[in-house]
Amino acid sequence: MTIRKIAHVGHPVLRQRAREVTPEALATPELQRLVDDLVETMRDANGAGLAAIQIYEPVRIVAIEVGENPRYPYKPKIPLTVVVNPVLEPLSDETFSNYEGCLSVPNLRGRVRRFARVRVTGLDRHGAAFDRTVLGVSAGTFQHECDHLDGKLFLDRVEDTTTLTTWENFERHHQARFIDEVREIVAMYGS
Ligand code: NI
Repeated sequence: MTIRKIAHVGHPVLRQRAREVTPEALATPELQRLVDDLVETMRDANGAGLAAIQIYEPVRIVAIEVGENPRYPYKPKIPLTVVVNPVLEPLSDETFSNYEGCLSVPNLRGRVRRFARVRVTGLDRHGAAFDRTVLGVSAGTFQHECDHLDGKLFLDRVEDTTTLTTWENFERHHQARFIDEVREIVAMYGS
């Protein structure tokens, strides 16, 4: 496994639409190695998720994992999940305001509106069908990662730019309030 370089905002690779992965391609050692590298790079950077396009591989693969995470100490846990060709479908009109950051947007966070209930379908890393309903803050994480596959960054979805903040100022001025909001979201949706 190799820890890969992460592309930062402004690099054109982040703005393209990643291409679908065929089950045949997914089964190759090259693609399986890419999945391993994606997970390793996400963990090394303390990310809650990482899309292959962020490590300069424009294919539709995302990895998501939230354990004890110093970047997001308040996030509900998500076991390691790899989704290939993910398709998101909102299950209701309910939304919530999520304070997001991104490994491709160093030292910036901002508020983004996300659906609170989504269904995610696709393939797992072995090519088996993946079908999961994701709720609350965790649903926000899946939406963030899937946006990457369409060349979108959370910055594009920030409606109120006055919510943009460095990580230091997030911790100093915004985190306490957001943690209260996360508690309410978790109470409502279970994650
Ligand atoms: Ni991101």
